[in-house]
Amino acid sequence: MRLPTGNPTLDAYLEKGYGSVRGMSSVFAASICGHMIRRQTELGIRGHIAEIGTFEGRFFIALAHGLAAGEHAIGIDIFTWPSEKVLENLHENVTHLGIDPARYTAIKGSTADMEPADVIAPAKAKADGSLPIRFFHIDGQHDEPNLVKDLSLALPLMHPQGLIVLDDMLHPSYPGLVETVHKWLRAHPEWVCLAIIDREDIVAAAKYVLVREDALSLYEQDLLTTFASNVFPMGSDVEGHFTVVLTPHPRLAEVD
Ligand SMILES: C[S@@+](CC[C@H](N)C(=O)[O-])C[C@H]1O[C@@H](n2cnc3c(N)ncnc32)[C@H](O)[C@@H]1O
Repeated sequence: MRLPTGNPTLDAYLEKGYGSVRGMSSVFAASICGHMIRRQTELGIRGHIAEIGTFEGRFFIALAHGLAAGEHAIGIDIFTWPSEKVLENLHENVTHLGIDPARYTAIKGSTADMEPADVIAPAKAKADGSLPIRFFHIDGQHDEPNLVKDLSLALPLMHPQGLIVLDDMLHPSYPGLVETVHKWLRAHPEWVCLAIIDREDIVAAAKYVLVREDALSLYEQDLLTTFASNVFPMGSDVEGHFTVVLTPHPRLAEVD
């Protein structure tokens, strides 16, 4: 389910290009994330955009359509799965689907071998080097050591009002992954789960949207209002905090 983002170039990509790029994230999640990135720009939240697990660029291109002046998109992947052609396909997709090649960098390598400075380095060299990261999508290796490592790469680079989005939450193949996130949230009480973006299907799974608690109000009511038709009325509670649940077709079970 595609929703308007308020960003015309992104809306055009989501309508005509998104489905043509091999990948896994849902167009529903891309619409909501695109909306939040546009809102960040309007609120004056400036920073780069990063993704771990860029693959052939389906979600990355959507994020990069939200770049503002001085900002850069950083995509990290081992780029060997399912073949070495993935990186070539990424470059082809990004440039053919409306992103200026000067505005993004693909870093080939495992995040297991990286430090935060490696992640931000391309943005420092090619864009406004004083900026932090304002939107970080983590969609790499889905196990505890790698997710914890990826969060540790993102954390020191984040804008105080930035968003970290985690993919493949609540996926039947990775039942333990949410436990890792809940442990991480308990260890970082300044961060809360703003929203759960529900799955479209088994290969377009749910995402958790994390934000620092003191920035929650910048996003929460806006999501509830903008996507009112997609709000699951019961919502959720993640580690003691109300969490917005957005789902393509909200409904409650009929009980009478
Ligand atoms: C599910 S795919 C990403 C899909 C993509 N984000 C999308 O929405 O279409 C996961 C990607 O993570 C990459 N990956 C796995 N382990 C990694 C690691 N340690 N460092 C960097 N990338 C990794 C894989 O190569 C793969 O391309």
